[in-house]
Amino acid sequence: MNNSEKIFLGSDHGGFELKEKIKKYLDDKGYCIEDLGCYSEESVDYPEFGRKVALAVVENKARGIIVCGTGIGISMAANKVKGARAGLCHSVEYAKLTRQHNDANVLSMGGRFIDHELAIEVTDTFLNTEFEGGRHQKRVDDIDNV
Ligand code: RB5
Repeated sequence: MNNSEKIFLGSDHGGFELKEKIKKYLDDKGYCIEDLGCYSEESVDYPEFGRKVALAVVENKARGIIVCGTGIGISMAANKVKGARAGLCHSVEYAKLTRQHNDANVLSMGGRFIDHELAIEVTDTFLNTEFEGGRHQKRVDDIDNV
């Protein structure tokens, strides 16, 4: 694991609390974090933050974590950015599979629907699981080549 890897974070107000917990956890582990907002629980619109994180991930060949209330809306916004592959994961198994099979570069979670301790486990799994390549490579290329 390369803990100096850059991780972009983003959330709306519904995901703010979980995003802050993830930020502290990853910061303590030595990751290089860039928080692209939001910065309080004041109501904001999730597309802005999904898009910002996805653009930063693609531009920097990095990875990102996004959180809204459900994880759905913010992942929809992220997946509109070419080269971004956001997976909505509420289990460790999903986090593992979205890295192994989809080479997801963005993890999405719903702060109001996932236990926050589990969310940390999901985060660890996402960051520490490698893409398997092989038969999955063409499928991932198909996603990006639209
Ligand atoms: C905000 O209330 C909520 O709609 C948002 O966080 C998210 O769940 C959308 O998908």
